[in-house]
Amino acid sequence: MAHSKEYVQNFIAREEFRRQSNKVLHGHPSPMHWKPLDEPIDFLLNERLGYQMRSEFDVNLYVGTPFCIKTKPARCGFCLFPSEDYEGNNGVERYIAYLKKEFEMVKPFYGNDKLTSIYFGGGTPNLYHPEHYGQIMGFIDELYGGVPDDIEKTLEGIPQLFSEPKLRAISEAGFNRVSMGVQQLNDDLIKYSGRRQTRKQVFDAIDICHKYNLANSLDLIYGWPEQTMDNMLDDLKDAVSAGVNHLTHYELNVAGRSDFASPKKRALLPTIETNIEMYRVAGDYLRSEGFEQVTVYDWSRKATNEEDARKGSYDYEHSMHDFVAQKDGAVQNTRQVCGIGYAAVNFHPNSLNEEDRSWIYMNQTSLKKYCEDLDNGKFPVGRGFMYNHQDVKLAWLFQSMQTMAISHENYQKVFQENLLDEFHEIWSELLRRRWIHITDSHIQFIDKGQYYIPMLQSLIASIRLEEIRGGAKQRVSEIPVVLATAE
Ligand SMILES: C[S@@+](CC[C@H](N)C(=O)[O-])C[C@H]1O[C@@H](n2cnc3c(N)ncnc32)[C@H](O)[C@@H]1O
Ligand code: SF4
Repeated sequence: MAHSKEYVQNFIAREEFRRQSNKVLHGHPSPMHWKPLDEPIDFLLNERLGYQMRSEFDVNLYVGTPFCIKTKPARCGFCLFPSEDYEGNNGVERYIAYLKKEFEMVKPFYGNDKLTSIYFGGGTPNLYHPEHYGQIMGFIDELYGGVPDDIEKTLEGIPQLFSEPKLRAISEAGFNRVSMGVQQLNDDLIKYSGRRQTRKQVFDAIDICHKYNLANSLDLIYGWPEQTMDNMLDDLKDAVSAGVNHLTHYELNVAGRSDFASPKKRALLPTIETNIEMYRVAGDYLRSEGFEQVTVYDWSRKATNEEDARKGSYDYEHSMHDFVAQKDGAVQNTRQVCGIGYAAVNFHPNSLNEEDRSWIYMNQTSLKKYCEDLDNGKFPVGRGFMYNHQDVKLAWLFQSMQTMAISHENYQKVFQENLLDEFHEIWSELLRRRWIHITDSHIQFIDKGQYYIPMLQSLIASIRLEEIRGGAKQRVSEIPVVLATAE
């Protein structure tokens, strides 16, 4: 898979000043390329059981929630994630009954996995009533035969719904981490999202998290309509002073039919040059306050004791940055994401052998279809993608790049190939631009090279993506199946 020098230069020249639309949770390949899988999911899950006989899987469990409070503009104006309008508690209770069904359905396939973290995301999971959190944790407990005390268990939501009774119930249900989608702390700027959210609500919720010893993380966005450098720095300063353990500082992703992608709102967005400067200034500030950059977007407060280190960490996401577990230089197994519920993603990099199969798929993103599938006794899966060996390598590279460094040493161990040779023209161009630095063990992304990581991920995958786009629809059953055997 060789990119020529000319191809690389043309790609960067074309994309450098275009808004990239793949900035939040970007994996290979983008869901845009996923298709309905023809093979029944239980066939794939049985095959996974075969792989599991060779090695145990460490699993990050995601539980999805469809509901969000209606806003004007719709979907908070900027959001590109699937969601459905919240219509009241009856809908929530009906959904939880369906979730229970899906938990029961996956038990024969997931029951032996080793649970390493839980993320309850959405949508807006803190729309639920206090009693629901324990109920859902009970499903997880039943599936795995217990939930370890010491693993990370995150619940995501919007600040104004993190009331004290709710946070108490969330903590009592066993969650130990809260992720708050704040986006903007400025009461005028947040209005673009149509949310009724105030900065006071955010700080009150953080205080309650501290009271209940819940690790807390804030999502903030830069590159927001009419946001200035001072607005951005004020938000970061206030979040740091409030004692947050972890921050996610996303660049606004502008795409699709969201209100922020309309010409009227686009005109209010900071330029790409300003965004690059915001990325740099935010980084300098957070480092000066003792925060450590873990990914292009994630910042953890540096800790001096174990308890604070736990609170600043984000295992659910970070453990996937190298999903190949190694011991003494030997590949042991892969980590996986199992998703249950509306729009949940299952990422099963089952094996690193060339002849084996790996895949990713997403549950239905229409609540109606999700429920219909379960009523019909079917796994509620919408679209997915079957990985060939090249795709597994790209998926691993994408994850690594999120950390702003790729270990070419590990790549050699895991895939038995020389990464520096494989994408030689790309590294040369990035060295010429001073966007990377290469050491004996790593390729480190530096300066603008960090900001451009989403674009560079697209570049690395570009030839394979052309193949995928051009390729005829591949039936799962046409790919040779090699079932694993016990050793
Ligand atoms: C899927 S949302 C769910 C959390 C919760 N409902 C909320 O809104 O805060 C998770 C996070 O993704 C980020 N996000 C969603 N759409 C985005 C976009 N277009 N650009 C940048 N970040 C985005 C936001 O920071 C958000 O907090
Ligand atoms: S940003 Fe959060 S609350 Fe808003 S639509 Fe997206 S998931 Fe829902």
